[in-house]
Amino acid sequence: MEKIVSLAKRRGFVFPGSEIYGGLGSTYDYGPLGVELKNNIKREWWNYFIHQRNDMVGLDGGILLSPKVWEASGHVKNFKDALVECKKCHHRFRPDKLRRPEEVGAPTNASRLRRPEEVGAPTNASRLKDPSKCPDCGGEFTEAKLFSGMFKTVIGPIEKEGVTTYLRPETAQAIFADYKNILSSGSRKIPFGVGQIGKAFRNEVTTGNFIFRTLEFEQMEIEYFISPDDDWQKIFKGWVDYIHGFMDVVGLERKRLFDHEIPDAERAFYSKRTIDMEYEFPFGQDELWAVAYRTDYDLSKHQEYSGVNMEYLDDRTGKKYIPHVIEPTFGVDRTILAILSTAYSEEGDRTVLKLKPNIAPYKAAVFPLLANKPDLVNLAKKIYGDLKKSFYVAWDDRGNIGKRYYSQDEIGTPYCITVDFDSLESDDVTVRDRDTMKQKRVAIKELAPYLEEYCSRS
Ligand code: GAP
Repeated sequence: MEKIVSLAKRRGFVFPGSEIYGGLGSTYDYGPLGVELKNNIKREWWNYFIHQRNDMVGLDGGILLSPKVWEASGHVKNFKDALVECKKCHHRFRPDKLRRPEEVGAPTNASRLRRPEEVGAPTNASRLKDPSKCPDCGGEFTEAKLFSGMFKTVIGPIEKEGVTTYLRPETAQAIFADYKNILSSGSRKIPFGVGQIGKAFRNEVTTGNFIFRTLEFEQMEIEYFISPDDDWQKIFKGWVDYIHGFMDVVGLERKRLFDHEIPDAERAFYSKRTIDMEYEFPFGQDELWAVAYRTDYDLSKHQEYSGVNMEYLDDRTGKKYIPHVIEPTFGVDRTILAILSTAYSEEGDRTVLKLKPNIAPYKAAVFPLLANKPDLVNLAKKIYGDLKKSFYVAWDDRGNIGKRYYSQDEIGTPYCITVDFDSLESDDVTVRDRDTMKQKRVAIKELAPYLEEYCSRS
């Protein structure tokens, strides 16, 4: 983990947020290479989950939504973390687990949205002889306090008069709020789904493990609308399998993924089935993505709170109903962490990020063999300029070729293109493969199709 965090900072993937002011806990910025990697992952997700399917459309909903949305969804009431503090040593614990927050991790959306009466009820006190006492010093606990997991914000110039709303803690709700508009603006018929990528914000009491759990993060979510008469188990399984396929698209290892069936008592109350897809991260196995069957809970609640009829007339059966929903959800930042930790490798004295070429920030780097030979530099610049029209490519003329290779290996550039003296005569260049380190001559006019073939393929 330390090596990944250090490489991410040193090479411009991920920086600690507001570092010049001493940092702001659990916030991060994506640097010049990080933003490329992130955009490539999001593009592949959109392509795989929206464009390649016939039953999906996209949405870009707001971060700020009416506060009524969060009342209807249950977040205002239930999206809370409970903490108790030891009166003696002042260590804090999550009462549902009676462990320190950093040991159990923060609750997910699903585990937070439990019935209110369940919040604060100890479910795992096995570690303690006496669950009413602090496991560290035996001191008494304070009463459990609830902390909202949502960031509040005020709309309007005068705080007292403004409307208080929240930065969204999940992207999903905009899809439910827009469901009627999406339906009436297209010719969508159930079953169909809506996908969305965007920022979400959670006032996490427990953060940590780099970009695994942060206050501000990005989600890629799908709400897939079905009929209550559809075979939801089959559709659910279909999504689980389809999601597994996305691992190959972005270069994650299937053997490191575990589908964790969430038991009844731990699921959100709206969910009839939830699978957490857990990945083997360097710090252990934890949730990467999830799939939940949210039933008709959200649309029914929005119908109740907004007064807008959410029913759908199914022309297959002539029946009217409130659609049910299967929700595959993905964290962008956790996907990046999983990808970085899968791709990171050390081979002898070189560090290589074996990113799949389709998500690598640069598809190739172009070098003149010698920086002080104008003929080589001019030809290399011409190749660089031509390739840049279709691909994001790097230029490097510093130091020697070996160092340039190592530098590109570390940031995952799949191909290095070197213009040498033979190139001036024979119109070809050396292309070196990051993973095999093998080199071959490729005609200059074939470079673009070569990169197209090897880098665009997912
Ligand atoms: N709409 C359902 C929902 O939000 P969730 O399991 O709470 O469910 C979905 O969150 C995904 O968002 C998680 O699987 C994870 O990848 C990501 N995620 C959740 N909280 C996060 C945080 N604090 N930091 C980074 N990613 C987070």
